[in-house]
Amino acid sequence: MSEHDHEVMENIDQLIENNAIWAEKMRISDPEFFKRLAQQQSPKYFWIGCSDSRVPANQITGLPPGEVFVHRNVANVVQETDFNVLAVLQYAVDVLKVSNVIVCGHYGCGGVQAALENFRHGIIDNWLAPIRSLTRVHKDELESLKDNQRLDRLCELNVLSQARHVARTTIVEDAWERGQELSIHSWIYRLDQGILTPLRKPISHASDVEST
Ligand code: CO
Repeated sequence: MSEHDHEVMENIDQLIENNAIWAEKMRISDPEFFKRLAQQQSPKYFWIGCSDSRVPANQITGLPPGEVFVHRNVANVVQETDFNVLAVLQYAVDVLKVSNVIVCGHYGCGGVQAALENFRHGIIDNWLAPIRSLTRVHKDELESLKDNQRLDRLCELNVLSQARHVARTTIVEDAWERGQELSIHSWIYRLDQGILTPLRKPISHASDVEST
């Protein structure tokens, strides 16, 4: 990135200008695009991902606005005591009737890294408690790995665990009970390659949760 580009990125006004240019381009390529979107959203996908700026749901899946409903937090954690994720999940499942929930983590996740470290980071350590307990459950496997492999493996274990948490919410259990089609996907993203990889078969029934 050149010095000039860097200055441009630091200039907040540039974002508003970028937006005007983007909106104009969209209008030229599809004059009805914004009118259609303004009427309703009907995404088929609900994305639960990390807040990390390098993992933007729409861009890495090639989806335009209106196609993916998104919830992001540090280290893509799903806890049944978190009203934020539950409220978004319920809207996605009960109202939007998405047919796919994608839990997507990424290798090199700073939140997962923090959960592995034996010192205080602040409030975030409480948020990361479910990942810290995963390190205890999988202690033997994790300790047998080298440092970078240990982080990668914990990133994977975290995605698998959070996807099971989604499957065990009353929201998802009730949807399956009603016969609603809903699959939960466990994906991981490799930052240095830009590649998404599924970690297991989708969870599409309550009986799928424990199998892999
Ligand atoms: Co992350």
